[in-house]
Amino acid sequence: MNDAALYDKAYGEWRADPHAWWAKAAEGIDWTKRWDTVFDPSLGAYGQWFAGGELNTCFNCIDRHVAGGRGEQAALIWDSPMTGQLKTFTYSDLLNRVSKLAGALAGLGVTRGDRVILYMPMVPEAAIGMLACARLGAVHSVVFGGFAAAELATRIADAKPKVIISASCGLEPGRIVKYKPLLDAAIGLSPHKPDACLILQREQSPCELIPGRDHDLLEVEAAAAPHDCVPVKATDPLYILYTSGTTGRPKGVVRDNGGHAVALWSSMKMLYGVEAGDTYWAASDVGWVVGHSYIVYAPLLRGCTSIMYEGKPVGTPDAGAFWRVCAQHKVKALFTAPTAMRAIKQQDPDGKLLAQYDLSGLETLFLAGERCDPPTAVWAQELLQKPVVDHWWQTETGWAITSGFREFGLFPFLPGSGGRPCPGYDLHALDDDGHVLPRGTSGNLSVRLPLPPGCGPTLWQNDEGYRTSYLTDFPGWYRTGDAGMVDENGDVWVMGRTDDIINVAGHRLSTGSMEEVLASHKDVAECAVIGAKDELKGQTPLGLVVLKYGVNRPEAEIAAELVALIRERIGPVAAFRDARVVPRLPKTRSGKILRAVIRRIADGETVATPPTIEDPMTLEEIGLVLRR
Ligand code: COA
Ligand code: AMP
Repeated sequence: MNDAALYDKAYGEWRADPHAWWAKAAEGIDWTKRWDTVFDPSLGAYGQWFAGGELNTCFNCIDRHVAGGRGEQAALIWDSPMTGQLKTFTYSDLLNRVSKLAGALAGLGVTRGDRVILYMPMVPEAAIGMLACARLGAVHSVVFGGFAAAELATRIADAKPKVIISASCGLEPGRIVKYKPLLDAAIGLSPHKPDACLILQREQSPCELIPGRDHDLLEVEAAAAPHDCVPVKATDPLYILYTSGTTGRPKGVVRDNGGHAVALWSSMKMLYGVEAGDTYWAASDVGWVVGHSYIVYAPLLRGCTSIMYEGKPVGTPDAGAFWRVCAQHKVKALFTAPTAMRAIKQQDPDGKLLAQYDLSGLETLFLAGERCDPPTAVWAQELLQKPVVDHWWQTETGWAITSGFREFGLFPFLPGSGGRPCPGYDLHALDDDGHVLPRGTSGNLSVRLPLPPGCGPTLWQNDEGYRTSYLTDFPGWYRTGDAGMVDENGDVWVMGRTDDIINVAGHRLSTGSMEEVLASHKDVAECAVIGAKDELKGQTPLGLVVLKYGVNRPEAEIAAELVALIRERIGPVAAFRDARVVPRLPKTRSGKILRAVIRRIADGETVATPPTIEDPMTLEEIGLVLRR
């Protein structure tokens, strides 16, 4: 059978009997109580997976591997060019650390269902903290370190954590990011206050602890008694991960325990071609969904060795860093964002640094987080002489919607395509009225309900928000928010978002929330933020502001204030560096700002004047400002 036939067979088997497909996958997980029904359509927004089942995710990630003889195998390798450190944690080491930290959290009153926020750099304690929560049946919510205090505060207010786990500092090239002042400011801003904070003191910049509230994480952990795993329902939440929505308020995507464990366990072999004992590296950050799924949970569920990397693709120390890590730890599958490849390509286009390393163990490069531009995919494949697989997914789904599949053999290389739907996803492009479009026609990429196991079943304490965000536009479907098409062969082409979400260096950001910040500046009358094309980061935000009548301060001064304001309110991750003053914004006659038109002008496209425009002169004015 050729590769496509193998895939067709697997996809066909799933379609013929989805419940049997997932029940078989669920055999890879240890359950304390077997499920009553594989899928119960009467529960939640569209049904729930493995209802009646009970398990503990941490047990499946650690304890069962130790009991099964993998205690001395490396579970987590922390490779930190930022500090020059390398630490290996065996499964037994991880069991020891995680069960004691779980004991420490329990000592602070954390029990099943309580929330714990983690605001952490890329240190082992981030993974240990997540797993300790899972061990107790507590719900963790990790907040990416590049977000500012105000963003952290909104997450604290929404999740209402009993405890926050953080560190004294994070390390970025050329600067130490002091987390503690950001944490203190966020707690000050939030109406909800945690009972306690556990702080990892890093030698690069230790911090003051607030007596009565803050505790030294390592001290408390060392003094605690190990805590056993608490079985939870398959449908209980494992974590909340906040992601950008179309409003300023982030969405708390909920992940359950049972479906998540099953989907991630099965994805490791089906997509990535790795088994217990193999080394897998997701070069992402624990603050993003890729980090949750593929630095922490999936590799450990499968009994692999996972790499946690505190560094960058370039500059730590050079553009050979990724290849060094792959060679040193014998990485079999590497997963990263296209932007990281573009950064390496810029600095080492001919692969001179790559040539210094033995990459014979590396089988496949997987890319996601944003669409990979074809030249970068081709460059990577030619240089590595290994298959490059672009696969498409979102925070909401927790694992890939479309991909190539190592288990079925890979499809022919089609740069720019995200592969074919994973078993579990009945994916189609719909027109704006919700009709299925013929193959080869672009539309709203949508998944026929139910979503497969692993996908977020709701938003934290906001079932209604979940329905309105994803399910109500096209009844019976999950709307991904991406535009694209499924072609005649079944290959999927994702072309970009249909909402105001942009992707900056693989980081998902809302232009709406940036507009809210710009609009709060005293001199700004109105504004628009768009994602303009960027050679390295894919997109970068560009802010256009109209000043209030009578303001005549220099543009550079106002622009600098706006850049600083976004950094202060949203954080450095927004990478907002370009704000320009315009006389007016192009609008429709009903007053809607023509953001898509502005974006196309910024990207250098020739734009026909839209018939709905109120005043065509505004396009010329914008063109002049953008070409400056
Ligand atoms: N904590 C604090 N600040 C952070 C941070 C963190 N965890 N992560 C990023 N930042 C800061 C950076 O220091 C930078 O600050 P600066 O404005 O002072 O320079 C800013 O946020 C923007 O960071 P970034 O977008 O990473 O840009 P960069 O120019 O520093 O690096 C790349 C460019 C391409 C090397 C980098 O974006 C990269 O490694 N991308 C891969 C992304 C990725 O893995 N995404 C995960 C999805 S799979
Ligand atoms: P996030 O929730 O941060 O993972 O971002 C999800 C969004 O990133 C998706 O909705 C897409 O817009 C985009 N995205 C992620 N991976 C891909 C990919 N392989 N191809 C195209 N777009 C992608």
